[in-house]
Amino acid sequence: MKIIVLNGSPKGDNSVTMQYIEYIKKKFQLYDFKIINISRDIKKIEKDMDFFRGILDDVKTCDGVIWAFPLYYLMVHANYKRFIELICERQAEEVFKGKYTISFSTSIHYFDHTAHNYMHAVCEDLEMKYAGFFSAEMHDFFNEEKRKQLYDFAKDFFGTIETYAPVSKAYKRLNYKMPEYINGKPIEKVDLKSKKVIVVTDSFDINENLGKMILHLRGTFIEQLEIINLSDLNIKGGCLGCLHCGFDNICVYDGNDDIRKIYEEKLVKADALIYAGTIKDRFLSSKWKTLMDRSFFNTHQPNLKGKQIGYFISGPISGIVNLREIIQAYVEMNEANLVDIITDEYEGSKELDAQIENFARRLINCAVEKRTNSETFLGVAGTKLFRDEFWGKLRFVFQKDHKYYKKHHKYDFPQKDIKTIITNLIMILLTKVPSMKKNIQKDFTKYMVNPYKKILNSDKI
Ligand SMILES: Cc1cc2nc3c(=O)[nH]c(=O)nc-3n(C[C@H](O)[C@H](O)[C@H](O)COP(=O)(O)O)c2cc1C
Repeated sequence: MKIIVLNGSPKGDNSVTMQYIEYIKKKFQLYDFKIINISRDIKKIEKDMDFFRGILDDVKTCDGVIWAFPLYYLMVHANYKRFIELICERQAEEVFKGKYTISFSTSIHYFDHTAHNYMHAVCEDLEMKYAGFFSAEMHDFFNEEKRKQLYDFAKDFFGTIETYAPVSKAYKRLNYKMPEYINGKPIEKVDLKSKKVIVVTDSFDINENLGKMILHLRGTFIEQLEIINLSDLNIKGGCLGCLHCGFDNICVYDGNDDIRKIYEEKLVKADALIYAGTIKDRFLSSKWKTLMDRSFFNTHQPNLKGKQIGYFISGPISGIVNLREIIQAYVEMNEANLVDIITDEYEGSKELDAQIENFARRLINCAVEKRTNSETFLGVAGTKLFRDEFWGKLRFVFQKDHKYYKKHHKYDFPQKDIKTIITNLIMILLTKVPSMKKNIQKDFTKYMVNPYKKILNSDKI
C-alpha cells in the first residue's frame, strides 16, 4: 500500500510534525510512505510544472493521502493553502477524487479544530474520502499513551483503505457565484472625524464585487481613504517557522521586505482597519494568510490592540461558519473590536450600499468612542492557553511574550487569588455543618445575586 504524506511545515524534514510521521512509518513498515515537502517547496511547485505534475503522479498512484501539517495562525500555513489553490487553478481536482485521506496536525491546540475543519471541508470539496483527523499537542510524542493513540488512529486509517470502508460526509458544496453588485451613490456622506482608517485588500479590481464594495466605502467618506493592496507589497515569502522572533521579536525578513514596515508604519498607527478579500476555497486567499502568518514577528502580543476592525468579504461566507470563527478569534486575540463583517451575499445592490454606508458610520462612532467588545470563549480560553504555555514549557522560546504577560498582568492564575481562596475555605467549612449547609442550599439563588443587588442599589452606578 502506498501512502503519500503532504508535509505542511515550512521547515521540511526538520519538522516536529514529520517526527510523528516517522513514528507511523516505523510502526507500519509494510507500507510504502512518501513524504512531499509542500510548504517548504511551494515556490518550486508554483514555477516548475514538471515538479507539480510529479506530485500529482504520486497522488494518482497512491492508496491514501495524509495531509500532515503544523498549525499556523488558526489554520494551515499560507504555502500549504497556496498548494490547495494551485490544485483548483490548474484543474487537478480529479487526481484527488476518491482517494482515502486523513488530516494530521501538531500544535499547542490553539484553534487546531478550525484548521482541521478547513482541511476536512477542502478534502470533501476535492471529493476525497475523508476518514478523520488527529490533532497532537507538539509534545505528545514523549508520552507513550499518546503515541499509542496515534498508532490506533493510523491503524484504523489503513484498515479503512484496505476494506474500502465508506466514510461519512460533513460539508455541503458552496456556490461561489455571487450576484453582481452595482454600487450606487452614497445617500449621506460620513466624516472621518480625524480618525485614521485604512483598507487592506489583496485585490482592488473595480470590475469585481470586492473592488466595488471598497469603492462604495471610499465614496461614503468625505475624506480620502487609504487603501493598501497586498499585491503591491514586496513580500519575500511565507513564515519560515524558524522562531527567530521568539527571543526579541526580530524577524529574519526584517529590512528585506515590507511586512514589518506595513504593520509598524501603517496598521499600528490606524484607528480602524477594514480587511477586504474574496473567498478562495474555504478561506481568504493565501496572500491574506501570508500576512497573517508573517505578523508572527510580534509573536503572541496583540498587534492591533484597541483598533476597530471590519471585514469586507466577497463570496459564500454564510456557508463557512469556520471562517467566521477564525475572524472572531483573530480579532479577539488581537484585543481589537470587530465592528462587522460585510458580504456580497445580499438581496440587491441597494441593500449592500446601505449596509456599507451604515458600516462606515458605525466604524467612525466606534473609533470616536474607543469601543471594545465582550470577549467570547474564543478569546478567554485562548488567552488562558497562551498564559499557561508562556509561563511553562514555551517560556524559553517566547521570552518576549513572557515579559509582556508579566508586564500586562496576564499571569492571572487562580492560585494567586487570595480573596477567592479564603472565601472558598470559609464557605466549604461552613457547608460541613449540616444545618448551615441546609440554610445555604435553601437560599442559594438569593446569595448569588446579593452582591449584584448591593451595587445596583448603591450610588456607584
Ligand atoms: C508562525 C507560527 C504560528 C503558529 N500558530 C499556531 C496556532 O495558531 N495554533 C497552535 O496551536 N500552534 C501554533 N503554532 C505552533 C506550531 O503549530 C507547532 O509548534 C508545531 O508543532 C510546529 O510544527 P513543525 O515543526 O512541523 O512546523 C504556530 C507556530 C508558528 C511558528
